[in-house]
Amino acid sequence: MARFDGKVVLITGIGGGMGREAALRFAAEGAKVVGCDLIADGANETVDLVRAAGGDITNFAPVNLADAGEAQKWIDAAADVHGRIDVLYNNASMPRFGAVDELSIDDWDYVMNNELNLVFYACKAAWPHLKKTAGVIVNVGSIAGTRGVEFMPQNAHGTAKAGVINLTQQLAVEGGSHKIRVVCVSPGFTVTPSTEWLVESGPQPFKDNIARIPLGRVGQPEDIVNAALFLASDEASWITGINLVVDGGGSVLG
Ligand SMILES: NC(=O)c1ccc[n+]([C@@H]2O[C@H](COP(=O)([O-])OP(=O)(O)OC[C@H]3O[C@@H](n4cnc5c(N)ncnc54)[C@H](O)[C@@H]3O)[C@@H](O)[C@H]2O)c1
Repeated sequence: MARFDGKVVLITGIGGGMGREAALRFAAEGAKVVGCDLIADGANETVDLVRAAGGDITNFAPVNLADAGEAQKWIDAAADVHGRIDVLYNNASMPRFGAVDELSIDDWDYVMNNELNLVFYACKAAWPHLKKTAGVIVNVGSIAGTRGVEFMPQNAHGTAKAGVINLTQQLAVEGGSHKIRVVCVSPGFTVTPSTEWLVESGPQPFKDNIARIPLGRVGQPEDIVNAALFLASDEASWITGINLVVDGGGSVLG
């Protein structure tokens, strides 16, 4: 028996990076994956990769989860594919950065919509389905949600991710009586198509910061997905409301 045999796992943002890795790994562990992404091309490539590896995946793209109506439609359609939802993995997000005196109000609103609101919309739409299955929500936060840094003007991004972490805690309480578990994985710097340029061309304070990571390397998508697989599985059946930091120890540095 694989850990997710017979389980229906919804994953947002499967077009690349951690979302693609999650689709591959959950499918390899027996899950029937139902994914979505704003960008169809990357999501279709992920579908090909999962199927080539013998996995079961259904894809809906393009879907803009920052639109509450589209998020509801996607969840409803995804639930219909196999008649249930066991896991909702809220991976998708899209940040914008700018110092407080430079970031526009539109950009602030964009970040709230594309990093926090989309998580709430998907959770809310999936909740009735998860009540039926005693399901699990895995949210993706960030170490940005619990600190400030000098190398990235991440006021909106960090605030949104702090919201994701707290939403996880509150939904864990609200879900307890339904046996719904709600957990959060907070990555440190992880190499994905969106971030790989920083390794070569990032500002020096950023390079200095990653050079100090106690475990001596930056993250890879599998580091994050390994944690998500555990938290979504029955092995974590007495874990809820947690924010599991996966960052090589970087965020405990003074
Ligand atoms: N990479 C890192 O260093 C890092 C660090 C901390 C947290 N995270 C978080 O991990 C998660 C994955 O990061 P990644 O680097 O793999 O991201 P990524 O940018 O490579 O992939 C995100 C995917 O989400 C999709 N997406 C974005 N907005 C969407 C929307 N409104 N509707 C539907 N799909 C949408 C994108 O099209 C993309 O395919 C994100 O939540 C991110 O904030 C990443």
